[in-house]
Amino acid sequence: MPLNVGIIGGGNIASHHIRGYQQTDAKIVMVADAQEAVARQRGEALNCEWTSDYHQLLKRDDIQAVSVCTPNWMHFEVAKAAVEAGKIVLCEKPMTTTLADAEALVKLVNEKKTYFQVAYMKRFHPVMKKFKEWLPLIGTPLIGLVRCYQPMPEDRWGDSWFFHKNKAGGGVLTHGGSHTLDLLHWVLGDVNAVTASITQRPGKDIDWVTGGIMEMANGAQMLLETGWVGHLNAGPNRDGWDEMIQIRGVNGILTLSTTFWDRPLLVPSVECYVESEKTTRKFAEGPVDPFVEEIKEFVRRVTNGEKPTITVEDGYWVDRLLHTLYQSSEQHARISLI
Ligand SMILES: NC(=O)c1ccc[n+]([C@@H]2O[C@H](COP(=O)([O-])OP(=O)(O)OC[C@H]3O[C@@H](n4cnc5c(N)ncnc54)[C@H](O)[C@@H]3O)[C@@H](O)[C@H]2O)c1
Repeated sequence: MPLNVGIIGGGNIASHHIRGYQQTDAKIVMVADAQEAVARQRGEALNCEWTSDYHQLLKRDDIQAVSVCTPNWMHFEVAKAAVEAGKIVLCEKPMTTTLADAEALVKLVNEKKTYFQVAYMKRFHPVMKKFKEWLPLIGTPLIGLVRCYQPMPEDRWGDSWFFHKNKAGGGVLTHGGSHTLDLLHWVLGDVNAVTASITQRPGKDIDWVTGGIMEMANGAQMLLETGWVGHLNAGPNRDGWDEMIQIRGVNGILTLSTTFWDRPLLVPSVECYVESEKTTRKFAEGPVDPFVEEIKEFVRRVTNGEKPTITVEDGYWVDRLLHTLYQSSEQHARISLI
């Protein structure tokens, strides 16, 4: 029997989930969007049912799994209702916008023993997997840099939910930074303490640029920079995007360039300089669509009864780190996470 899926939130990112499901044998049975016109348009395009009330979708016994593609502040409410309705959940990132919600979701998912996955899709790209695989080549990690710059032309600073703290959770640190922090955690482990300094976008209540230091549990120091700046032709692809992680260890330097999310034709790369060999290895693979890889693996794991790759605890970890970085800047203090 194919997996029957519902999509909750039919906006921009739903297109990427839908494209993924269309490359599996899962069936999209219903789309829910609070805007009736959006729900109808999706339903008609997919030849499936649609509703403007996501509770109607969750009531359906023939839908086993849901993709939560609502704006950030609606993740908690929708994901909680989906778990309570016994659904398998793939929840867009960041998992929640408050630490209390993240904690409540971890508790609920563990109580209900539900399959719950957070959609940090970059992890599914072969280049990211190589980045993790090559880490031992550089020996003990000492210091490094996590960078996330995304171009933001002045005329894009509109009034979307993206630019409100209570709806998005933050600015670029939350939107794009959450991906790079998830990759960092996956590859390098926990953070013991952070010190951050954040400049808010004038007239907005969200971060514009962030500088920080993350003291990793393994002893490494990771510097953090994020920004939404209008440098539209800068970066490795001359398109304003500049997202990378670089780690220097006792035996080498590992550098990941991860400049994509909606442009699978761009080919990210990882380089590893190994001191004992005096050589630099390079790995690049693409085009690969990380959303499609993510959804394929989600459907495969659910169908085979396996555990999720990116768990509710992983989602909580990123949410807590983001929360602590904002707190550190507000309090002008180094804050411990242990
Ligand atoms: N993985 C990535 O790289 C990536 C990139 C961009 C966005 N995202 C995430 O995807 C999510 C959606 O972002 P988007 O760009 O598609 O936003 P969007 O604004 O384009 O779409 C969100 C949709 O959700 C609908 N919605 C709002 N409240 C709802 C409710 N109560 N019930 C049903 N539908 C509701 C809205 O009407 C809208 O159509 C966000 O969490 C965002 O952070 C992820």
